[in-house]
Amino acid sequence: MNILVLGSGGREHTFAFKIAQSNLCEKLFVAPGNAGTANIANNVALSVTDFTAIKELVLKENIEMVVVGPEDPLVQGITDFFAEDNDLKSISVIGPSKEGARLEGSKEYAKEFLIRHNIPTAAYQSFTENTVTEGKKFLETLNAPYVLKADGLAAGKGVLILQDIEEAKTELENMLTNKKFGAASEKVVIEEFLDGIELSVFVLTDGKNYITLPTAKDYKRIGEGDTGLNTGGMGAISPVPFADEAFMSKIEEQIIKPTVEGLAKEKIDYRGFIFIGLIKVGDDPKVIEYNVRMGDPETEAVLPRVKTDLVSLFKHVSNQTLDQIAVEIDPRSAATVMTVSGGYPEAYEKGKEIKGIDQISDSIVFHAGTKLNENKVVTNGGRVIAVTSFDDDFREALKKSYYNIEKLHFDEMYYRKDLGFDL
Ligand code: AMP
Ligand code: GLY
Repeated sequence: MNILVLGSGGREHTFAFKIAQSNLCEKLFVAPGNAGTANIANNVALSVTDFTAIKELVLKENIEMVVVGPEDPLVQGITDFFAEDNDLKSISVIGPSKEGARLEGSKEYAKEFLIRHNIPTAAYQSFTENTVTEGKKFLETLNAPYVLKADGLAAGKGVLILQDIEEAKTELENMLTNKKFGAASEKVVIEEFLDGIELSVFVLTDGKNYITLPTAKDYKRIGEGDTGLNTGGMGAISPVPFADEAFMSKIEEQIIKPTVEGLAKEKIDYRGFIFIGLIKVGDDPKVIEYNVRMGDPETEAVLPRVKTDLVSLFKHVSNQTLDQIAVEIDPRSAATVMTVSGGYPEAYEKGKEIKGIDQISDSIVFHAGTKLNENKVVTNGGRVIAVTSFDDDFREALKKSYYNIEKLHFDEMYYRKDLGFDL
């Protein structure tokens, strides 16, 4: 069948890489894609939230499956758009309905879902412009650090963690009254700070059944030792060494099962990925967030470990028969290191020529912010290229990625050299 992947990052290159290996895929399209996807698929220049243009492409190219990479189209209801259109309703969309996507689109909605289904999470209250005073009083009942979360999508920037109570009160006011994050911060969730180490769990569900994919840990800060500004992610390793069998079984019983059962009970059409952000507090997992898509760069470490045909898995998702397929995982560790443009996550330049990609042989190169310019690969984003390697343990896998990354060159290229330092 013909398949379309929506998105343009390393995550989408990884999807395309796996899908292109499947015998079930005839023609593969990526929209808008990058210089990496251009090598293995047909890139189509369109915006992932332009549903009319997507419909035209799908009908013109006889596309039968659409795999949605980023959250925006999901939160805006692309799955419902397909389900409600007579010409599109037979097409499989991998990604939840608009209602399901609210788990990522609204922090308050996610917290209420967690509480309704008794899933362990940080204590919280939410506030609006009319209840700023109550919000400040609530802050006084908590201990530092203070966690403030814009309710809506804020491009990964909507969470503030502050040490000082006065600063927390000012920022609360900035978010609610001065709309620091626009409409996204018309509501703010104030949350108990959870002290522990983070990991992410990825689940693929058809709304009734699920499979748990490998765990991953990503490195969000720009600077070594987890310092500096938050980024989309500077690298990832999978699996996470401290997520042993006992801990994973807690995650499964206390978090994954009640999440999938909760979706089914609430009759939410959810056929896609659930990315559960967790903090290990003592020996117990607590949810800090749901995302309704795969993570980036976690995908670049997780999906290469999935040996089962990805298109076949997606067909089972679409038909709600995930209970009829076993998933095979490569037991080796995968380590992904992301190269970024100098200046990222603040202002950076684009259009720098990238050299050395063809020198890399025993790692996988996933393009993120790249494009073709007169047959040359040039930088086109903050996160540029991810290098993923396998080995028996993550430290050896990391060594391979670092060895190969040194073969890459572009002006002001930067990457973190300390991934895994905390493990
Ligand atoms: P989120 O966008 O919800 O993933 O939050 C961004 C980051 O803030 C997370 O990756 C955590 O590192 C941190 N964070 C979020 N919520 C909490 C919390 N309740 N306690 C401690 N850290 C948190
Ligand atoms: N790497 C974090 C995310 O994809 O949200």
